Amino acid sequence: GGPMDWGGGPVPAGHHGAGHAVSVRDLTGPRPDDGATVRRFTLTARERTVTIGGRRVAALTFNGQVPGPALRAYQGDVVEVTLHNALPHDGVTVHWHGYDVPNAEDGVAGVTQDAVRPGGSFTYRFRADQVGTYWYHSHELASEEVARGLFGTLVVLPRRERPADLDLTLPVHQWGERRAVTLGADTGRTRRAVDPGTTVRLRLVNTDSESHRPRLTGVAYRLVAVDGTDLHGPAPTRDRLPTLPAGGRYDLAFTMPATPVLLDTGDGASLLLGDGPAPTGQRGTPTLDLLRYGTPARTPYGAGSRFDRDFTQVFDSRIGAYDGKPTVVYTVNGRTYPDVPALGVRYGDLVRITLVNRGTESHPIHPHGHHMLVLSRNGAAPQGSPLWMDTVDVGPGEVWQVAVKADNPGIWMDHCHNLHHASAGMMFHLMYA
Ligand code: C2O
Ligand code: CU
Repeated sequence: GGPMDWGGGPVPAGHHGAGHAVSVRDLTGPRPDDGATVRRFTLTARERTVTIGGRRVAALTFNGQVPGPALRAYQGDVVEVTLHNALPHDGVTVHWHGYDVPNAEDGVAGVTQDAVRPGGSFTYRFRADQVGTYWYHSHELASEEVARGLFGTLVVLPRRERPADLDLTLPVHQWGERRAVTLGADTGRTRRAVDPGTTVRLRLVNTDSESHRPRLTGVAYRLVAVDGTDLHGPAPTRDRLPTLPAGGRYDLAFTMPATPVLLDTGDGASLLLGDGPAPTGQRGTPTLDLLRYGTPARTPYGAGSRFDRDFTQVFDSRIGAYDGKPTVVYTVNGRTYPDVPALGVRYGDLVRITLVNRGTESHPIHPHGHHMLVLSRNGAAPQGSPLWMDTVDVGPGEVWQVAVKADNPGIWMDHCHNLHHASAGMMFHLMYA
């Protein structure tokens, strides 16, 4: 095997604060305290000019770095994150994208908490029950703050499972209008020596408001998880990866061959593993279809279940007014947030939501606090692994049906993760007590 890479040392990472077994009395939320290990992290939001791809970028950072610190914990840990705001003017929060935390920890300014003002602090605390690849980002002025750097990754590792020898978390992000793209913290092509036989896991995280089309060549890989959730029976493939929507994650696993492997974002950033010339992709390589990948498995509910509620959300855009000026607004059932009626459900309900895109752009729809089980896309049921997603990329003309279990009460934000679309209206609430 090759070198172990934890992206900054094994957890608990000393420079993020010490983790040790103590008991927490006031653990927020419904989960019991059983004396779990507490992982403490501090995130300080501050402005900083950074150099990205040779250009100076006036970034917003957590702890002076972009991306923000890569947070790691083990399943069952209590994660405690103290946010400090050292920005000069604007508020900030931290939202745990894809992590189904108690509502009060969800970090949505104006909904679950007030934005943390300059000079202020807020402590988030939740139990790391879900294993996998997630991320965090500000949820105040999000379309601007996330684009400028207020984001980082959160990886929760299973307690009793041997990790891959090389485990890399790679957010894909573009900076400014000129599309300087970073993969991890790097632009351009990065090369890394990896011994043949090394087990590798690459965790791709799209932290942008647009899709990316990353490509892995030179090896048969398995797509082992989507949006943090393991797929069932993922077989090795050389197909092209499907589009990675804004907010989404793909975890890829393979054993390093004797020849190099290339991960390429397709828009200016790439990672070459191993020695030798970069492999080139074959023309005509088919694209992996998420709904036909892996093998079926039992799920607690599905298309044949009896649903307590049924909603249809139609996404579109039109010319509207914003701040008195005509502009494109992004609509849900013809309305813009906050005038979109909330989805009112009851605790325990099984909810079916039909997501319809009548527009010309894709809308990666992201519900907070819940995962969606995909029931169908354009009327066709998944034929492979069950798909539990927190960001469903509804393309132009597409119709997806998803099931959501109302098991995490609160006032939740659901929205398009093209954050410009969200701030121009494409948001709604799911709420229940
Ligand atoms: Cu990652 Cu409300 O979003
Ligand atoms: Cu959208």
